[in-house]
Amino acid sequence: MAAPRAPMIAGNWKMYKTESQAEEYIQGLLPRVSSVSGVDIAVCVPFTDLRAMVDSARGSRVEVYAQNMHHEPEGPFTGEVSAPMLSELDVSGVVLGHSERRELFGETDRALALKIPAALAAGLAPILCVGETEAERDGGDTERKLRHQIGEDLTGVPDERLADVVIAYEPIWAIGTGRVAIPEQAQDAIAFVRALVGGRSPEAAERVRILYGGSVKPENAGELLALPDVDGALVGGASLDAGSFAEIVAAAQP
Ligand code: PGA
Repeated sequence: MAAPRAPMIAGNWKMYKTESQAEEYIQGLLPRVSSVSGVDIAVCVPFTDLRAMVDSARGSRVEVYAQNMHHEPEGPFTGEVSAPMLSELDVSGVVLGHSERRELFGETDRALALKIPAALAAGLAPILCVGETEAERDGGDTERKLRHQIGEDLTGVPDERLADVVIAYEPIWAIGTGRVAIPEQAQDAIAFVRALVGGRSPEAAERVRILYGGSVKPENAGELLALPDVDGALVGGASLDAGSFAEIVAAAQP
């Protein structure tokens, strides 16, 4: 039998929290998750919070992730941050391809195809976000969109490293809207993403972790996390409060 996939709960802070607010948060979170076992916990924070968070979370179960990076290790790219810059700070991973970056900042599948191998090469765990818009879902285009994103974004990753990427399925219509996918929609889409990975490597499909994201709250986390193909959650709004984030972490405990 294949090894079970450890659940992962990642909080995506987006552009929230100054360094002092981040410090206050982590002091509130650490005691709340100190007795948790068997759940990987990540907080994905603004660049300016990374160093303080890494220092404060050291030795705890909480890993610190960034929310974006450039694919080149260095160069004339004003305003950008590279994978080696993040890994030297002891950052554990990076969110890539969040729909807000795709929709508001022109992130392309082509760029992601370069960023994901660059993250892996620098020892960072990438969380690749994929998902359809409301119009794509209503038009019956969800699977086409997912096939396109998974196909393009993972082209640069060799089969034996596919399972080192965490994939977050986030239907765009469920992000920040309070409109969570019904469990059947989440399960079906995530099983489809797993099958896409399986098309490249059946072994990677067994091992790759696929998270659900979009209006996950303490009240709905248990039901979503119990779905057979859902290996965790990428949590936006509800991760900003240490108490509600810790409740979601507790719901993931095996
Ligand atoms: P939300 O955001 O939980 O606030 O819907 C999820 C995300 O954008 O990752």
